[in-house]
Amino acid sequence: MEPIILNHPLITHKLTILRDKRTGTKEFREIISEISTVLCYEAMKDAKLEDKEIETPICKMQGKKLDEDNYAFIPILRAGTGMLDGLINILPNAKIGHIGLYRNEETLKPVKYYYKVPKDIEKREVIVLDPMLATGGSGIDAISMLKEDGAKKLKFLCIIAAPEGIKKIQEAHPDVQIYCATLDSNLNENGYIVPGLGDAGDRIFGTK
Ligand code: PRP
Ligand code: URA
Repeated sequence: MEPIILNHPLITHKLTILRDKRTGTKEFREIISEISTVLCYEAMKDAKLEDKEIETPICKMQGKKLDEDNYAFIPILRAGTGMLDGLINILPNAKIGHIGLYRNEETLKPVKYYYKVPKDIEKREVIVLDPMLATGGSGIDAISMLKEDGAKKLKFLCIIAAPEGIKKIQEAHPDVQIYCATLDSNLNENGYIVPGLGDAGDRIFGTK
């Protein structure tokens, strides 16, 4: 499946602030959250709606409602949690799971340290969150764990993707639709996205 890339002047503008190394933690978090909301709107374009009769101040009408309870948001720790409030602001009844993964700095392979997801994950539409899709290792492992638990309908939302990571996820999980705000040039020798924004977790949490 081809990735869906947000190409919008406002997103490009926000990304430039995000990438700038002088941007502080507060503004960085706010923009991650804002872009995540837009990604969520994009990912919900095919959402199923149910009829709901309501009455406006003028007349009765047949409205449409989303089954909010149908969704599970799964941030990959740590950086994925920075995207979460941008989604729960608009879908506050979604269930939330967490997958803890960090990249071994030498091998760049993801190491799992936490896994807790809603118990009826197989019935839900699952939206995995991670701002950076670099080698693709973390995304692939997170999606595999969710599939082992029975998840069938999955989407992957990220802010910046590298072509290498997109290709890897497409090969490993061709059924998963990737949404990203932008597609960058390449990975450097340390597995960082170029030009990227640096270490997303460190910038969200101010740890460096
Ligand atoms: C970052 C990022 C992704 C991963 C992407 O996490 O948030 O999870 O790297 O890289 P990949 O596509 O090559 O797997 P990191 O391991 O730095 O952990 P953190 O979120 O705790 O900082
Ligand atoms: N993880 C990050 O936080 N940034 C990158 O550029 C690559 C992986």
